[in-house]
Amino acid sequence: MQKTKLLFVCLGNICRSPSAENIMNYLIEKQGLRNQFECDSAGTSRYHIGSSPDKRMKIAAKKRGIELKGKARQIEDFDLEYYDFILAMDKSNYFDILALDRQGKYKHKIKLMCDFTTKFPDQEVPDPYYGGESGFDYVIDLLLDACQGLLDFCNK
Ligand code: 4NP
Repeated sequence: MQKTKLLFVCLGNICRSPSAENIMNYLIEKQGLRNQFECDSAGTSRYHIGSSPDKRMKIAAKKRGIELKGKARQIEDFDLEYYDFILAMDKSNYFDILALDRQGKYKHKIKLMCDFTTKFPDQEVPDPYYGGESGFDYVIDLLLDACQGLLDFCNK
């Protein structure tokens, strides 16, 4: 069976999108679906290329038993072709990804992460970078909800 390939995208690829990637892998593993999915994450900016996930984000994820792995990279044109779904954390990320799709060939693959929430009312995953600890905890809980919704959507 072909794997469903998912790319999670935010601005820096050190807070929200690596959290989404690792939370998704955590849920996939827990539900015995490892052979069905391939996940990665990327940033729209170059700011943090090569960096590990933000320490504050790692602490928040650890409280929920999730380890954040990976190194930041920037999204490339090729990602639009390769991945089945590209999940933007906020609307600004969404429009930056759309701008890479010059011919409009991949618009159907690009989605907002919050389209898949079932409990949280948010339309965007808030950027926690300049805020306090509670913002990081909130991102993890919101992404646990959205990732489970996305997993159910892909498994329908
Ligand atoms: P992320 O958070 O997009 O969720 O990784 C941010 C990381 C870095 C910056 C902004 C947001 N920054 O301005 O450097």
